[in-house]
Amino acid sequence: MIPYGRQQVTQADIDVVSAVLAGDWLTTGPYVTAFEEQVAEYVGARYAVAFSSATAALHGAAHAAGLQAGDVVYTSPLTFIASANCARYVGAQPALIDIDPQTLNIDVSRVDESVQALIPVHYAGLPVELDKLPTRPRVIIEDASHALGAHTPDGPVGNCARSDMCVFSFHPVKPLTTGEGGMVTTNDSKLAQALRAFRSHGIDRTPTDDPWYYDAAELGYNYRLTDIQAALGSSQLSRLDSFIERRNEIATTYRDALADLPITLPPAAPEGYTHGYHLFAIHVANRGDVFRGLRDRGIGVQVHYVPVHHHGVSRDLVMPEGGYPASDAAYDGLISLPIFPGLSEIDQAGVIAAVRASL
Ligand SMILES: Cc1ncc(COP(=O)(O)O)c(C=O)c1O
Repeated sequence: MIPYGRQQVTQADIDVVSAVLAGDWLTTGPYVTAFEEQVAEYVGARYAVAFSSATAALHGAAHAAGLQAGDVVYTSPLTFIASANCARYVGAQPALIDIDPQTLNIDVSRVDESVQALIPVHYAGLPVELDKLPTRPRVIIEDASHALGAHTPDGPVGNCARSDMCVFSFHPVKPLTTGEGGMVTTNDSKLAQALRAFRSHGIDRTPTDDPWYYDAAELGYNYRLTDIQAALGSSQLSRLDSFIERRNEIATTYRDALADLPITLPPAAPEGYTHGYHLFAIHVANRGDVFRGLRDRGIGVQVHYVPVHHHGVSRDLVMPEGGYPASDAAYDGLISLPIFPGLSEIDQAGVIAAVRASL
């Protein structure tokens, strides 16, 4: 089975992880600090705070932003449930704004002054055009789980040029991996401090006369990344640009090879943007048949995503009349084809042949 996504782990990655395992420090230590500094430098943000997953990082970001009961937090219906759940974790109310069918990202033109908190998701690695927001919500947390390595005219995704914080995922199918892992970038020192405390039991280690003393000043969690994972992340980060380049090449090959078929190809990046191509999601009329046809031919396609409002946990949503038609229409036809740096030309040709046959 050719999966829709797969990590690339080299001997160099294995060697750096082995070196950490042979050392004294396994949990959050110097490798985490180094990885945070490298990601901050890569994206052009002042601070980066590593977490054990993007889900934990979203929780941390929602907390650091002060979101709580009484707040309404808007995100896209076409995303992984974690983008909405972070509002629930802090007692806030999740809410949805339908997607723009042209970009499959949240329709920024619908964000009005009533929206106080927004979690734009860079679906498939295509950055949300935040410069088109008619108004700036009080809190913006980018869910860039798909988009490390993508760029906008403002610079790399993660520089928080138009947001308070930006969250990345390092799950194995994502642009780079630490096994499980996540990161928040921000330019605000207070937010960075709150994020660091939150990921480690709310502990404040401001020195006192008693060298053993620490204060669990606020409620926190154990959401720490380990040095083992961070060493893998740093090693992977050194190849991120080549990963993104390869993903873009694969996307171009798909576009050329599938252009004559009765399918809708994914939106391309606008002028001045670089697509991260975490996903290459085509849209077909008879999704069920094509999906099964591809699986039967050994292609591990997936659907991204079962929309947020379809899930049982979303029974708390206050839905507008008519629901979210653009997201439902997208969901009805989407199929994610394999795209990952190690996808060989032969395997991609096999995927293309299988798409033709399955249609
Ligand atoms: C858009 C989005 N947000 C959040 C997450 C959660 O990431 P993690 O698995 O690192 O917790 C994912 C993972 O699939 C995702 O796709």
